[in-house]
Amino acid sequence: MTNYPPEPFRIKVVEPTKLVDQITRQEALANAGYNLFGLRSAVIFIDLLTDSGTGAMSHGQWSAMMQGDESYAGANSYYRLSSVMQDIFGFEHFVPTHQGRAAENILSTLLVKKGIYVPSNMHFDTTDANIRARGGNPTNLVIDQAFDPDDLYPFKGNLDLEKLKNFIQTVGEENIPFGMITITNNAGGGQPVSLENIRQVSAIYRQHKIPFFIDACRYAENAHFIRQREPGYADKSTLEIAREIFSLADGATMSAKKDALVNIGGFLAMNNEELYRKACNELILREGFPTYGGLAGRDLDAIAVGLIEGLDEDYLDYRLGQTAYLANNLREAGIPIMQPPGGHAVYVNAGKMLSHIPQKYFPGHALTVELYLRGGIRGVEIGSVMFAHNDPQTGEVVYPQLELVRLAIPRRVYTQSHLDYVVKIMASINEHREEVPGYRFTYAPELLRHFTARFEPIT
Ligand code: F0G
Repeated sequence: MTNYPPEPFRIKVVEPTKLVDQITRQEALANAGYNLFGLRSAVIFIDLLTDSGTGAMSHGQWSAMMQGDESYAGANSYYRLSSVMQDIFGFEHFVPTHQGRAAENILSTLLVKKGIYVPSNMHFDTTDANIRARGGNPTNLVIDQAFDPDDLYPFKGNLDLEKLKNFIQTVGEENIPFGMITITNNAGGGQPVSLENIRQVSAIYRQHKIPFFIDACRYAENAHFIRQREPGYADKSTLEIAREIFSLADGATMSAKKDALVNIGGFLAMNNEELYRKACNELILREGFPTYGGLAGRDLDAIAVGLIEGLDEDYLDYRLGQTAYLANNLREAGIPIMQPPGGHAVYVNAGKMLSHIPQKYFPGHALTVELYLRGGIRGVEIGSVMFAHNDPQTGEVVYPQLELVRLAIPRRVYTQSHLDYVVKIMASINEHREEVPGYRFTYAPELLRHFTARFEPIT
């Protein structure tokens, strides 16, 4: 059993949780139409639905919140955040937003026109949707290794440089208002991107005068992976690595609900002054005045402190170690997972584990239901419920390559015994896997159906 460094914190406030009995779980699930998004959190024992906004804040953050300055304009909280932003990211300008997708919304409003293209390694679904909503084409150009769950390449989030060059050649640089890269690559298993790759992507974008924006949600975890895995970075601090990453870009979007260790917040940062002025106008229209941007002053203080804590190397050793611990122990219990472990989550290969369930009966979904029924654990399906769609030309159903279940680990929330429990439940499902039924829809909306669809088991 591989271990990870002990939590570099003590627990001062606790939130009780309870494993409700099997009958209560069965009833709750049937009432929710077998969709885990429909469950009340009170009936969930261990919630691994997302690592977004679900972390525990430190006493440093809670006490900083008491100093929150709620002035409408020019609040001290804004200037405290601004100085941390300068120190880590170094962009000329930024605006706070209420979360990541609000930053994406503003950026897309300003730069996306009908028919344009925005390349990235892989866009997260809110980024993808914000670009599509304005008639643009988000394009994923991640390296091929990203799609092989057993490939151990250490930077499976890398953007494929040849694909990028060919893509720019094909669609024309004038049709690319900006390019992106997501660190770590959430849609591709939370895999990191190497600094070498970011440097080369930056060089290609710059050669074509394409502004380069980083989706920075999990930049600290990515920077720490670089420190651990990329030759030449072991002696650099994670902060130095982060500075080097952002020096290569023209701007960034960030959901502070991840590596800034807060429950709500985000930002859009950039060097270009004209873009900043336009962003301020959009911000005033949609979010709020540029010195608070849809957040309370106290939220800005929590982000300022959280950004610094999120780069702490002892914390990151523990954080990435915890994810690897869950991954390795699942693997030792015979559960097929995406390799190597990513930063914030373990992705179980449900298609392989429940190979008796055809894709049309949703093996990933079946596994999430079983995890809840047996253990009160909530994960999220990343497979056909989320992504299968009808081909507009042929009308046939197009299934995704992989049927996965993501077990995302909230920051500073669960302990090793929680993770051991998850492994135990998963192992017991694996032992009886042939008994796990598939599911079919009883209701499915057209868009983003995984949130509200209802199901029944196939008996
Ligand atoms: N970019 C990435 C890479 C993300 O993972 C997310 C959110 C966003 C942007 C949007 O940020 O939620 O603050 O608007 N990911 C969450 C998740 C929802 O569960 O992975 P947001």
